[in-house]
Amino acid sequence: RWSPGNIISDSIARVREQVGRDNVLLGLSGGVDSSVVGALLHRAIGDQLTCVFVDHGLLREGEGDQVMETFGKHMGVRVIRVNAEERFLTALKGETDPERKRKIIGRLFVEVFEEEAGKLQGIRFLAQGTIYPDVIESAGARTGKAHVIKSHHNVGGLPEKMNLKLCEPLRELFKDEVRKLGVELGLPREMVYRHPFPGPGLGVRILGEVTKQYADLLRKADAIFLEELRKHDLYDRTSQAFAVFLPVRSVAVMGDGRRYDYVIALRAVETIDFMTARWSRLPYEFLDLVARRICNEVNGISRVTYDISGKPPATIEWE
Ligand code: XMP
Repeated sequence: RWSPGNIISDSIARVREQVGRDNVLLGLSGGVDSSVVGALLHRAIGDQLTCVFVDHGLLREGEGDQVMETFGKHMGVRVIRVNAEERFLTALKGETDPERKRKIIGRLFVEVFEEEAGKLQGIRFLAQGTIYPDVIESAGARTGKAHVIKSHHNVGGLPEKMNLKLCEPLRELFKDEVRKLGVELGLPREMVYRHPFPGPGLGVRILGEVTKQYADLLRKADAIFLEELRKHDLYDRTSQAFAVFLPVRSVAVMGDGRRYDYVIALRAVETIDFMTARWSRLPYEFLDLVARRICNEVNGISRVTYDISGKPPATIEWE
């Protein structure tokens, strides 16, 4: 009978049998799938597991610290955090094309991960958070953004280069099953039921060129939006919600002066499969509160808009 407890003990037994006394490497992204693999492997093989967390500097507010807190401090998993913000920002300098930005981030991500992996001794396995839908998807032909998505955190060349075997304990599970497993393994509910977050992170939520200044402004606005969604019990009623940074300046009056500040767009959608989506009918009073907080608390933003476009034609992300 399917129960998270059964699946866990079954997976643990299989992992132990597969890896024996060997050491395993896992790329932790903060996302649901790799987090659940991390928790599961830790339970199965303890300190034979080493995780590498590449922080590309395009994560949401507090996200990197939260990963370290949950896995490092709380669970005692060995996690190597690579602070690569500067490298990513330097590589992205001057680039405005969305697909090229994705490629730069994806390529550098793999490069940094491989560098770290190369420093480790005695690793025989690479663990991955592949789930059943990924298996099906890569079997069929997909094009466009969906294809880009799958290739992003793809460290596919590494197993050959380092002579590693793959360990993919979630290969037969669907997303909702993975989530149940995560909760059962003691991961915070908030982490397990998070909205999806794109691999290139804020890199595709800052329109055009990515700079540290823009990323910092976006992080603050996004954190306010998410905090209020949770506070008002609206987070779980939306499928994905986030702020987008628009590098245009609009006029504002503040005190005695005029200012030309940047604009934030809020996006919240409801969807089953992310192929089509409907914009969330968030209450006006709620939107009003969020807009006010952003303008008051984020110095540099003085205009907030709400995106009322459906998909199609508008994709969920703005890039
Ligand atoms: P769109 O914007 O195409 O997004 O409607 C559909 C879903 O895919 C996510 N998305 C990405 N995920 N890398 C990812 O890992 C990407 O480059 C990427 N682009 C979009 C998006 O957040 C939404 O959930």
